[in-house]
Amino acid sequence: MNRFADKVIIVTGAAQGIGEAYARALAAEGASVVVADINAEEGTRVAKAIDAGGGKAIFFPVDVSSPDSALSLAERTVAEYGGIDGLVNNAAIYGTMKFDLLITVDWDYYKRFIDVNLHGALVVTRAVYPEIQKRGGGSIVNQSSTAAYLYSGFYGLAKAGINSLTQQLAHELGGLKIRVNAIAPGPIDTEATRIQAGDTAKELVKSLAIKRLGQPDDLVGATLFLLSDESRWITGQIVAVDGGQTFRL
Ligand SMILES: NC(=O)c1ccc[n+]([C@@H]2O[C@H](COP(=O)([O-])OP(=O)(O)OC[C@H]3O[C@@H](n4cnc5c(N)ncnc54)[C@H](O)[C@@H]3O)[C@@H](O)[C@H]2O)c1
Repeated sequence: MNRFADKVIIVTGAAQGIGEAYARALAAEGASVVVADINAEEGTRVAKAIDAGGGKAIFFPVDVSSPDSALSLAERTVAEYGGIDGLVNNAAIYGTMKFDLLITVDWDYYKRFIDVNLHGALVVTRAVYPEIQKRGGGSIVNQSSTAAYLYSGFYGLAKAGINSLTQQLAHELGGLKIRVNAIAPGPIDTEATRIQAGDTAKELVKSLAIKRLGQPDDLVGATLFLLSDESRWITGQIVAVDGGQTFRL
């Protein structure tokens, strides 16, 4: 398939893990990809690997919590590729996340966490959507988590916010032919999860209908579908890609 030929897609948090899998898969389907991340070393590695494999990718640095940084990302993308058609808001503090409770977490840490994990998706969307509009519309996919539906402290709180943001933005941007959806992955076998879950991952697997952790590539099908024209009448939806971890009626 070559669904993204001539399309320019930004993936935030693409220097490793799930975002890297999205960037590689989009490039394999013809997209010009922007690997956008706060980690320049790993982001450059991903972009170079895609290029070496015959795909088209470039690394641009971004701190998704900063409006100036997000605007610079949008401007540099347009200067490089001529426009923007799609955005994946995947960046988050996850692998390096502190374990703490909402009632005790250091207040500055909590505010920085919410700035990145919730406001970051809005900050980058605000910077990028005028460019998507200029192309006649496009698609935004936000990275939520099943943590939004489970007890998981400030991480789940931010992801519940991502779900609501998705639904609100779908209405604000629908008239501009920009669709906004989210995927809510269950536990995915990334370096970040190995750090966060450790030995509890085995217990977690027992609670899934499909008895294994997900792989980053298990998320690619749903995310690329939501970015592509095949989902042209779908917006404001949160799609669980979670091995049957959660059920919602
Ligand atoms: N791994 C899982 O089990 C799982 C499950 C559900 C949802 N998710 C979500 O998927 C996404 C990726 O998860 P992952 O496992 O690949 O995590 P990860 O920690 O490996 O990747 C997160 C990426 O975001 C980048 N980042 C962090 N802060 C940033 C900032 N301020 N600006 C720009 N980039 C920043 C990091 O450098 C990193 O490359 C996250 O949104 C996470 O919450 C992960």
